[in-house]
Amino acid sequence: VRARGTKAGRKALWAGGYRSGPGKALAKISISHPFDRRLAAQDLAGSLAHARGLHRAGLLSRKDLAAIEAGLADIGGEIAEGSFRFEDTDEDVHMNVERRLSALSGEAGGRIHAGRSRNDQVALDLRLWTMAAIDRARVAIDALSLALVERAEDWLEKGIVVAARTHLRAAQPILLSHALLAYVEMLRRDTDRLADCRRRAAISPLGSGACAGTTLPIDRSAVAESLGLPAITENSLDAVSDRDFAAEFAFAAALAMVHLSRLAEDLILWTGEEFRVLRLPESATTGSSMMPQKKNPDSLELVRGKTGRAAGSLVSLLTTLKGLPLSYNRDLQETQEPLFAAADTLELSLAAMTEVVTGLTPRPARERAEIDAAALSTDVAEELVRRGAPFREAHGRVARWIRRAAQENTDFREVAAADEPKLATFLRRLTPETSVRARDLPGGTAPERVRERIRELRKVLRPARSAR
Ligand code: ARG
Repeated sequence: VRARGTKAGRKALWAGGYRSGPGKALAKISISHPFDRRLAAQDLAGSLAHARGLHRAGLLSRKDLAAIEAGLADIGGEIAEGSFRFEDTDEDVHMNVERRLSALSGEAGGRIHAGRSRNDQVALDLRLWTMAAIDRARVAIDALSLALVERAEDWLEKGIVVAARTHLRAAQPILLSHALLAYVEMLRRDTDRLADCRRRAAISPLGSGACAGTTLPIDRSAVAESLGLPAITENSLDAVSDRDFAAEFAFAAALAMVHLSRLAEDLILWTGEEFRVLRLPESATTGSSMMPQKKNPDSLELVRGKTGRAAGSLVSLLTTLKGLPLSYNRDLQETQEPLFAAADTLELSLAAMTEVVTGLTPRPARERAEIDAAALSTDVAEELVRRGAPFREAHGRVARWIRRAAQENTDFREVAAADEPKLATFLRRLTPETSVRARDLPGGTAPERVRERIRELRKVLRPARSAR
């Protein structure tokens, strides 16, 4: 019995003591090269570092090392150009690479797995892969942040004031730029979280073997250093079964997706007929096959929709990990696809969001809904406080003016001025624009505060900043 699609008579590299091959279903459930081939570049880098470590330990001749180096380079080329043949007998990327290495570099290839197991090997590969995914995600997060900052800068100059909302009801006037920058703050935390996660991923498990280390005198720190990793794991049992970095990444990705989903939701609202604040670029919409007038915000809806998947990846990872006894268990193979999915979803969604944000345009003032005067009522209450009233009393007075204005169908500022003539000048000058300017505290929406934050953000968001 052998797995379908395998070469006749060929046995798995681990099957030295086996008389038969795996059952049909086992072969099928076991095979991972269709997805773990995404780890090929990391597997080659790890193999190279390990081979050099064996050489330094006196376990691999210079000649054999040279043959291995050449073989690994050839395999890298074959994989890059798509000519590498993954075989099902060699269930995963690690065995496919080792098999090919032996074919290319003869006996030397048979020496590479000394002091190593696929368990510490895959742990390393996943760490390196996660680090690269983090670097890509951080670049993409910065690109979106910059797109938001650029719009914020433009709309600040245009002085676009809209109603801030709580409970989705108009609350107080703000600069539209201030709302965009709220999302940039979320993205700043996301990139920070990813950098933090990267720190814990950048630790080498090589030398942990299958679970209990190796008798061979490998200098683990030197191997780690040659991979650019600043540290080595402290416990071999933990090292082969630790996927915390994957779970942390999935969480950071899921939370970043939650932020993108909220931005998507806001942009769907702000560009809609009821809010009439912004316009979507046509390239971010699709039409209806039935209703000729429609331009639907599909990019945004899909980003919002994909957030479910990202959360699913995190739940999937945590669930796979929760019941595992020490140390390596094959369940761990199931952590790969959710990790890849989390990274793919985030990356694609960031690109889609950046495309949308870059094309956003404000609607002309005549199309935008006017800000209801009632949104200025907190400013009036605070003016009464400045004049000595207890806030609770001021709140009550303004509330009664608002109520009367609604009954009499007038502007509450008129009702207030009639009832309290001393406020007349203040009330006459009170507009959404003056209200925005007056909320001049750090973190506030006053134009000078927003301008200052844009300046700071521009400094940290240099265009196309390379990952650290
Ligand atoms: N493909 C495996 C994984 O991803 C590699 C490790 C296999 N180890 C083993 N003892 N079967 O987990």
